[in-house]
Amino acid sequence: MGGRSSHESDANFKANARDALAKAAKREPEKISMSLMVNGQRCALTIEPRMTLLDALREELALTGTKKGCDRGECGACTVHVDGRRVLSCMTLAAMQHGKRITTIEGLERDGTLHPLQAAFLERDGFQCGFCTSGQIMSGVAMIEEAKAGWPSAATADLTKPFRLSDLSNTEIRERMSGNLCRCACYPNIVEAVADAAGRS
Ligand code: FES
Ligand code: FES
Repeated sequence: MGGRSSHESDANFKANARDALAKAAKREPEKISMSLMVNGQRCALTIEPRMTLLDALREELALTGTKKGCDRGECGACTVHVDGRRVLSCMTLAAMQHGKRITTIEGLERDGTLHPLQAAFLERDGFQCGFCTSGQIMSGVAMIEEAKAGWPSAATADLTKPFRLSDLSNTEIRERMSGNLCRCACYPNIVEAVADAAGRS
């Protein structure tokens, strides 16, 4: 008798668990409403709280210039600017960027004129397949601004004096761009392109 009742309660438990799982599977995921200022335009979004900024840009706003490489913070292909600072959009929750200013590769040109770093990538042949290129350029643009603002890097030899744009050696550029990987190994040309654009800014 005792064995049967324990068998029945086990069967009931499994049936209840199956019902709960089936109900959970049918439930619509909770969504939130938010907005972003993307490339100068306000964009309203209704998204799941777990959505990354990268997926929001690509899947919700069709801004596919920002690339998904590793989707785990290792390659830099997804780099965009949030309020002027470079971030990895695959590691950034969209919901936490409500009201912020986002710039993607699509927002760099002005009145049909490429950003100086975009032009330098063309002149210096800074890409082959191009998959990493938008991330490289977004990172490079922010990096030049960081150098202009006097931020040192791990390659800066003398931390006792303010960093100046003229201190931006190739070693500095390599260090500051080290979060952006290129499987086509265009690194020498990328460094030249960034140095050109820094010299023009
Ligand atoms: S896709 Fe974000 S770092 Fe690779
Ligand atoms: S140009 Fe191909 S991955 Fe960089």
